[in-house]
Amino acid sequence: MLKNRDIISILDFTKEEISYVLELSKRMERESSADMLKGKILANLFFEPSTRTRLSFETAMKRLGGDVIGFDDPDKTSTVKGESLKDSVKIIEGYCDIIVLRHFLEGASRLTADTVNVPVINAGDGASQHPTQTFLDLYTIKNTKGRLEGLSVGFLGDLKYGRTAHSLAYALAHFNSEMYFISPPSLRIPKDYIEQLQLRGVSYYEIDSLFEVSGKLDILYCTRIQKERFADPVEYEKVRGVYKLSRVVLDKLKIGNDLKILHPLPRVEEMDESLDTTEYAVYFQQAHSGVPVRKALLAAVLGVFQ
Ligand code: CP
Repeated sequence: MLKNRDIISILDFTKEEISYVLELSKRMERESSADMLKGKILANLFFEPSTRTRLSFETAMKRLGGDVIGFDDPDKTSTVKGESLKDSVKIIEGYCDIIVLRHFLEGASRLTADTVNVPVINAGDGASQHPTQTFLDLYTIKNTKGRLEGLSVGFLGDLKYGRTAHSLAYALAHFNSEMYFISPPSLRIPKDYIEQLQLRGVSYYEIDSLFEVSGKLDILYCTRIQKERFADPVEYEKVRGVYKLSRVVLDKLKIGNDLKILHPLPRVEEMDESLDTTEYAVYFQQAHSGVPVRKALLAAVLGVFQ
């Protein structure tokens, strides 16, 4: 189903394809897969910092018996000599079987996919999309709630620049979710995302405070204010620390233990460590799901399952 497919935007995936990836991810947790990608090479090209995405792709590839090349510091590549992204990836495709790309520019993964003949996986392009994060977010939601259908999901924080929230909202539109976008007015989810959700008939609400929806949510998807994407540091200071989730705050909200809190991580000020040991917290589990989910994606795209 996914052989040789590029993974650029979650919008390119049907509900059936999403469910298929989640089933494969479950299989990857159960079955031995040590030689599945023996002889294959993944090029991990990271033009922006990453801990989880880069290392979980690397772990996934190595656990499947494949090898990994790449870089996480573009200043140590010929980019600093003026080589274009297009030229770089044209060369690198000759060294590998699949490319995983994180880039600060929206559209960089699409450009790469249009340039090379090996499959390309978008590991985050600017403030736009992060589709493989979405697969692991859905996997975590399904594992913790037992279903994806009909959930009330709150998205909290930086919904303007938060690419993980953009991709997840698109994906959840397949599953009859009710969505609450909770952010300061300056960090509302961009209009083109709202238009897509409207086209899909999603019920959504844009609000400022988590207190307005206390008790209604099945999932709270918390995000970091993306400091690095603000053109003006003064604007960042205005919203810095606007939400600070903690055990005390949740106790005040009188939210039932059924609520699950996800966060793509890293966190800074928006989520206190006091939450880590509560029943709400599933964000470490979520990050660890990166390995089986990315194993499933790599194996499927490289044609293991036909
Ligand atoms: N969730 C996520 O994309 O984390 P990293 O930036 O560490 O890869």
